[in-house]
Amino acid sequence: MLRLTFVFLSVLPLFSEASSGSSSIHLRRATSKAKNNTSSAPQNWVLKDNYQGTDFLTKWNFFDQSDPTHGLVKYLDVDAVKSDNLAFVQGDSMILAVDNTTQLAAGKPRNSVRISSKATYNAGSLFIADSAAMPASCGAWPAWWTVGPSWPNGGEIDVLEGMHQVNTDKMTLHTSEGCTVDLSQKMTGKEDSTSCGSSNGDNSGCVSYKQTLQRQTRTSFVVGGGVYAHSWTSPSGTDVPADITSNKRDPTTWGTPAGLFSAGSGCNFSEHFHDHVLMIDTTLCGDWAGSKGTITHDTCPSIPQGTSMTCADIVQDPQNLDDARWNINSIKVYQLQ
Ligand SMILES: *[C@@H]1O[C@H](CO)[C@@H](O)[C@H](O)[C@H]1NC(C)=O
Ligand SMILES: *[C@@H]1O[C@H](CO)[C@@H](O)[C@H](O)[C@H]1NC(C)=O
Ligand SMILES: *[C@@H]1O[C@H](CO)[C@@H](O)[C@H](O)[C@H]1NC(C)=O
Ligand SMILES: *[C@@H]1O[C@H](CO)[C@@H](O)[C@H](O)[C@H]1NC(C)=O
Repeated sequence: MLRLTFVFLSVLPLFSEASSGSSSIHLRRATSKAKNNTSSAPQNWVLKDNYQGTDFLTKWNFFDQSDPTHGLVKYLDVDAVKSDNLAFVQGDSMILAVDNTTQLAAGKPRNSVRISSKATYNAGSLFIADSAAMPASCGAWPAWWTVGPSWPNGGEIDVLEGMHQVNTDKMTLHTSEGCTVDLSQKMTGKEDSTSCGSSNGDNSGCVSYKQTLQRQTRTSFVVGGGVYAHSWTSPSGTDVPADITSNKRDPTTWGTPAGLFSAGSGCNFSEHFHDHVLMIDTTLCGDWAGSKGTITHDTCPSIPQGTSMTCADIVQDPQNLDDARWNINSIKVYQLQ
């Protein structure tokens, strides 16, 4: 029986494991009582790509078209991004920022960044995104995700997605019609919906899990960000990769995944997910974060109770976007040998 799984390892911040060298991986453990191996077969994950620093400028494309999710952003090409200082190397990290210097007229878009890897990936891949910070500003809708060709046919995996200063992460799969997932396996996230297909304008996503996310806000920035790992395994793949030998990691201690998606009967993951590029973007407002009623004191604690402010109002003032930046240590891609 075909069984492909997506595993999102959670990052509750008990501690980060320090690592050797500058190409750090911090394994944030879900629990100190991590289980021993539950996986059956040993797997040999070999480092295929390691994106760091200027790699994001040379090995990724800068999308400069209008935002498909209708955000109040103008995405800049690589040259404009450099001259605007919205993508630059700081120390060992790549900063991807939203413009925070320009006061805007009502309804005008703000300059931002949306990038995708030139390389494409398929089943049998493990992705480890190590970031020191992600956007956590009111108005912002940042996402770390992967997507295949001719959406939604090649599928979409939203690994880390949030809006404003809300402490939940949405992990979602989007597919063409005819794909449901099995959510019965153990994970810390909550089942939201098992039907993945986007059709008739319903793009709420095939499957959503949410978990408590330690958003890297200005305060938690200090504790050093986090690591999101997700694997896209081959048939007979195990729930959690047994080892990442080339980096001497021990994922058996990573604990219960935050989300674990297995193909349901009638859904062939090989047909619904293929040839994914990696994506990172920060949009503002738009279809999700700009929808009516999302700006409240709960989603944006600095905003007074009973506010009548809209997301667009927030985006006008550059100071509101100071924290709308990614600080990415590395993105590593491993493949099954
Ligand atoms: C994991 O296995 C090792 C070696 O067998 C054992 O010493 C340890 O107690 C186990 N840990 C847990 C949490 O079961
Ligand atoms: C964990 O899995 C690896 C690879 O399958 C195996 O070599 C090792 O003995 C396992 N450890 C335990 C405690 O089961
Ligand atoms: C799933 O789709 C792939 C690609 O089309 C195909 O090779 C494979 O045989 C399919 N698996 C099943 C169980 O239908
Ligand atoms: C923009 O945000 C960065 C990071 O928070 C900050 O260092 C910088 O001073 C801000 N720029 C302006 C013009 O306020």
